[in-house]
Amino acid sequence: MTKYTIKDIARETGYSISTVSRVLNNKEEGMSKETRKRILEVVKEMNYRPNQFARGLITKKSNMLGLIVPNISNPFFPELCRGAEDEAVQNGFSLIICNSDDQANKEERYIHLLKEQQVDGILLASMNKLTRGNERILTDSQIPYILVDRGVDVDSATGVFMDNFKGGYLAGKHLIELGHRKIACMTGPADITNANKRLKGFLQALNEHDISIPSHYILNGNYHMEDAYDLAKRFLAEHEVTAIFTGNDLMACGVYRAAFELNISIPNDLSVIGFDDIPFGEALNPKLSTIRQNTYQIGKDSVKLLIKKLRNEPVESLFYEPTLVVRNSTQNLIQSPSLED
Ligand code: RIB
Repeated sequence: MTKYTIKDIARETGYSISTVSRVLNNKEEGMSKETRKRILEVVKEMNYRPNQFARGLITKKSNMLGLIVPNISNPFFPELCRGAEDEAVQNGFSLIICNSDDQANKEERYIHLLKEQQVDGILLASMNKLTRGNERILTDSQIPYILVDRGVDVDSATGVFMDNFKGGYLAGKHLIELGHRKIACMTGPADITNANKRLKGFLQALNEHDISIPSHYILNGNYHMEDAYDLAKRFLAEHEVTAIFTGNDLMACGVYRAAFELNISIPNDLSVIGFDDIPFGEALNPKLSTIRQNTYQIGKDSVKLLIKKLRNEPVESLFYEPTLVVRNSTQNLIQSPSLED
């Protein structure tokens, strides 16, 4: 397919390049309707598409935003991307999605790449929190940015975050109200603030009910399903707990697999509650009880916030409240049917 340039449009219509350019940039004051109509007709006939990059050099705007996520394989993040993309497109922006794979150097490379692509702003769901180095790159290059999901403790940045402490608290309280006392917890990575907050909230709920659990009931997970499976398989083979809270839904999936292989029935022998409310939690058998983060909305709102920032409007961080979603993977310990029933 021939790629036409602004020169071709000018030649075809007989108007100057600057006249064509004025039409393309909606600056037609003083121009006759016929001129404008003719130029737009030829633009359409030739299927002319302006070179956004070149245009960006002139307007200093690319109408592109960047979103860096730490793990695109975790269904939480595609949901976040979905919300962000929908909001971006609705506002006339394109969204470039980058996956840092939880690696600091990859995150840094993507920040540089987005800078080279001249994005107007960046949404950063960082590995944990923004490193000083990356903060400097963003500040020096004057690219407006918003933190998403992680980095609540980065004072200098605006972001969209969840109350993770409360989420962990709700999960612990739910299990306690169902009569569970021997409860394990599989955490996210120790160096991720939101994982620690979830654990703290969970322990707070236990504390309020004078329940203490041995330290080895706290399993150091990493938000990944495979490792959760390994951890759970070893732990459940040796310890009889009646419930487990996992710091995300993906790790709950790993627990499901381990329990199945060990002939442990969920929820009859083991109640499981996750965190996130990823879309396929409802497709699991039994359907997964969880703590809902309104992930799609978080994605949308983070773009809204970034756009406000691009317009130099005042912005403040947004904080979401988690909610408890009770499905079938958690069961009342006292009333649970015995195997003979
Ligand atoms: O599942 C991945 C987790 O990492 C989510 O809970 C999200 O909050 C992120 O930080």
